Amino acid sequence: MAINPLSILFVASEVEGLIKSGGLADVAKALPQALDALGQDVRVTLPGYRKIKALEEAPIALETHLDHWPHTPYKVRQLAIGEVTVYAIECDHYFARNEMYSEYNQAYADNGERFSFFSAACLDMLPKLQFQPDIIHANDWHTGFVPYLLKHRYAEFPFFAHTKSIISIHNAVFKGVFSFDELPTLPEMQGRYAPDAAVSATHVTMLKAGVMTADKVNAVSPTYAEELKTELGSHGMAKEFRARAHDLVGILNGCDYSDWNPSTDDFLPEKYHAEMSSMLAGKAACKQGLQQRVGLPERDVAVYGMVCRLTSQKGVHYLLPILERFLKLDAQLVIVGTGDPILATQLAEIAACHSDKFAFVEAYSNELAHLVEAGSDFFLMPSEFEPCGLNQIYSMAYGTLPIVRAVGGLKDSVVDYDIAPESATGFAFINPEPIELLSVMQRSLLFYLQQKDEMERMQLYAMQQKFCWKEAAKEYLALYRSALN
Ligand code: GLC
Repeated sequence: MAINPLSILFVASEVEGLIKSGGLADVAKALPQALDALGQDVRVTLPGYRKIKALEEAPIALETHLDHWPHTPYKVRQLAIGEVTVYAIECDHYFARNEMYSEYNQAYADNGERFSFFSAACLDMLPKLQFQPDIIHANDWHTGFVPYLLKHRYAEFPFFAHTKSIISIHNAVFKGVFSFDELPTLPEMQGRYAPDAAVSATHVTMLKAGVMTADKVNAVSPTYAEELKTELGSHGMAKEFRARAHDLVGILNGCDYSDWNPSTDDFLPEKYHAEMSSMLAGKAACKQGLQQRVGLPERDVAVYGMVCRLTSQKGVHYLLPILERFLKLDAQLVIVGTGDPILATQLAEIAACHSDKFAFVEAYSNELAHLVEAGSDFFLMPSEFEPCGLNQIYSMAYGTLPIVRAVGGLKDSVVDYDIAPESATGFAFINPEPIELLSVMQRSLLFYLQQKDEMERMQLYAMQQKFCWKEAAKEYLALYRSALN
């Protein structure tokens, strides 16, 4: 029996193809595309940041204002990614800035106001656009007030009588903590009474607002869903996640193979596919291309890559203490990323002393990320925590073996060679200690040097793994249906 398609509004603070700072954007592009391919009516909304190039030309679908905040009008611009309609909520006062969230490593002082305005506008625009979703799917703290307002402000509103909400947790370390005074756009906060959102007499967190009021909650991997129920894994929100345990599931992200596929990747000097001679020739050419690009000697040597935000989440602080010891070995390392200026300075100093073995590129570059994925033999993700992680999945697609700490989605997606050699796709360590990272890097280098055939077999096997968005989208559909029932 055919089931009626659902209408879904997917709400996120960034969407790949328009604007991106991290993995959230990848999901906000790929999941709606996959739901659309399954025949659902899915539309996406995000803030209309000035940085989005396509914005200016996009037709205006609506010009309006919030009843409670009439002096700050907003426009809805209509764009598309593939077949999926995208509504960008444009409001110069909040979004005509140089960046999305912060400048010079300083968050914008009015982020609480900006994202609560955005959350309120997401719901306000729907009756005006006459789009009546069955499901509103929020993501992370920026959109936490969407389920909250749906449950409270719109409780008696006939238009939303059958609409349910979901919130996906991509990273619970970012909670959106604001004082009541910082949320003038929401009259609901002016009474200073909001038990579903408050964390003290004076402050709320937007993530808590979403988690406590959405009909269903999901984490971006099964292991992360479990970790969220612990104090350590949830960064202090275990009580809330435990309270929602019956409505909390984990769904592992997929990979957008239209963006991450070495046989079609225009960023690579040579394309290759999952066949031994093609893989070996392609990866050798890409390694050379990478070495040239970052100024390392063009040698046939093990290359380790890492592309990440420079934060402790990504485990840069496990790498730094052992980096010089690792660089005594015959190997090369390329790190690409931006973030914490202290970590960046430390990496740059070490790179300056070891320029024959270590290149640090302080940049956020999609093109270079693709080249690092293809040109490396190993890809480092020693994360302190990792809700899902996508680069390990991209690495596998490029025949590059991920070296991960077995947490969150890294644990759910990478099989360690010593634990299960036949089905292995990489290397893993458990204890959050620099010395453990050094051992696993040494273990991988020994493997590279002494077990060449076995390594090549494993690289090919990794390339054949598929983390399909289609399958993940079916799990989301089942979650939507369970919310509606
Ligand atoms: C966040 C998480 C990352 C996850 C991504 C997409 O960036 O840190 O682990 O893969 O969101 O869900």
